[in-house]
Amino acid sequence: MKNRSNWWIRVPVIFFIIFGLMEYFVDSGDQPAVIKYPITQFFLVLVLLLLIAIELILSAIENVMFQTLSKEAQNRYLAKKEEKWEWKWAKETYKKLLGSKPMEAESEIVLDHNYDGIRELDNKLPPWWVYMFYASIVFGIVYLLRFHVFNGNNQHVEYEQEVALALKEIEEYKKTAKDLVDENTVELLTDASDLSAGEKTFQSNCVACHMADGGGGIGPNLTDQYWILGGGIKNVFHTISEGGRDGKGMIAWKQTLKPAEIAQVASYVLKTINGSTPANPKPAEGDLWVDPNAEKTETETSEQPQEVVTDSVTVVMN
Ligand code: HEC
Repeated sequence: MKNRSNWWIRVPVIFFIIFGLMEYFVDSGDQPAVIKYPITQFFLVLVLLLLIAIELILSAIENVMFQTLSKEAQNRYLAKKEEKWEWKWAKETYKKLLGSKPMEAESEIVLDHNYDGIRELDNKLPPWWVYMFYASIVFGIVYLLRFHVFNGNNQHVEYEQEVALALKEIEEYKKTAKDLVDENTVELLTDASDLSAGEKTFQSNCVACHMADGGGGIGPNLTDQYWILGGGIKNVFHTISEGGRDGKGMIAWKQTLKPAEIAQVASYVLKTINGSTPANPKPAEGDLWVDPNAEKTETETSEQPQEVVTDSVTVVMN
């Protein structure tokens, strides 16, 4: 009985170990398991009651056993129980690691010089220090071989690798989280699966006003290059998501459609409907849309040859 700690330490410690194990093993996502699955609260209460019951039973047994002992044995038992519980093993290891001679044995290691009564002990190096020294030698050899002989990865290479990995993970995440798109990040989708999903959305939500072939009815013609609210994927996404001008009849579809679906139907409108020839086209409304990005590449390419020309002229003149 002597090495047993107090019940008021034992019960909470065991309780929290079980609590921790439960949280570790029960997969409950972001929330702690106790909150996500209320049944676990019941389980924990049960565990606590059980622990208390075990404590009660143990102390009852101890009591009964105690009563059966002879007077002398009872005294011995009490004396044992009084003994303080000690970290014997830890204390001994600590002493060994310190490696110092006890005061009584100092005469064995005293050196035979004596300066005005000041003498010197020939202490051995303390084992804890020596072991650490050996360990650092081993570490040093491994380090030297790994990084200077076999050219292991240094921090820079490791950093680059981790960044590359993280970028890949972001890409993966974006693929599974298509709903992250908004009008600023949306790109024209070209995958057949996205376009056919967009077509489905279009057929079930948009044909009433834009016609199945996009020729236009209540809503404007989507097949021509004229746009009231701006062409290009970002503007079209914005129009579908936020709706048209007040009172025109084009509602904000972000209430009903997810961002990914809006991106799909916008891509469908631009890739498949736009540029096709509808049966009954509505006259064009709005302005002719010129893609600002396409414009930019045009001016860039038109600038470059000019420079080349001046260059060649100067070359010729020289
Ligand atoms: C109730 C009728 C109606 C429905 C349904 C409707 N629209 Fe519209 N749509 C309109 C009207 C009207 C306009 C013109 C808005 C304006 O002038 O501001 C418009 C404008 C647009 C524009 C912009 C055209 C331009 O010239 O700028 C796009 C793109 C568009 N709709 C796509 C869709 C898509 C995709 C759906 C289905 C998810 C849809 N619309 C459903 C009536 C509708």
